[in-house]
Amino acid sequence: MTKHIPVRTMADVKEPLVLFLIGMRINTFWRVWEWLPSFLAMGPMIVELYKNPELGFLSARTEMAGRTITVIQYWKSFEALEAYAANSERKHRPAWTAFYKRATSGTGAVGIFHETYVIRPGEVESLYVDMPTEFGLGGAIGTKPVTSKSETARERKG
Ligand code: HEM
Repeated sequence: MTKHIPVRTMADVKEPLVLFLIGMRINTFWRVWEWLPSFLAMGPMIVELYKNPELGFLSARTEMAGRTITVIQYWKSFEALEAYAANSERKHRPAWTAFYKRATSGTGAVGIFHETYVIRPGEVESLYVDMPTEFGLGGAIGTKPVTSKSETARERKG
């Protein structure tokens, strides 16, 4: 039998970047017409971002847990993310306006949220063992092998 040697890698963080968590919570399932437009708005934005790398978007992954859908995104900078959100020629700004139009005539059947974190070299730790190369922070910016100098979480953070 072939012996399996797990490959351990870590994200190669050379410069600051941004982790952006964005999502929605379906507060009232049966009011489909209130939450479905928000749900449907996300896909085209992700397609737009993958097609236009100059916007500063790096990658995204969607997670579903109960009533909450979260899209985990990596961006080159806070400025790039902010500029995309405000750009009226892209898909986001109209969706923003449409959301508040629906929200003020609705019942709160859908909640939305986002959280933005700046990731800086020396302040982040990661480890991947036998994971797909495109996964997570490492997938967004590239990985490097764990060595004897980056054996522990503290060393990898440093
Ligand atoms: C790729 C997906 C998305 C990205 C990167 C994104 C990014 C952002 C960012 C950065 C802001 C803050 C803008 C600022 O205050 O300067 C924002 C606000 C907002 N977004 Fe998105 N968003 C995304 C998807 C969506 C979707 C699908 C909706 C539709 C429901 C939405 C609705 C809103 C609304 C309503 C605000 C304003 C919230 C407030 O300040 O009251 N966004 N978004």
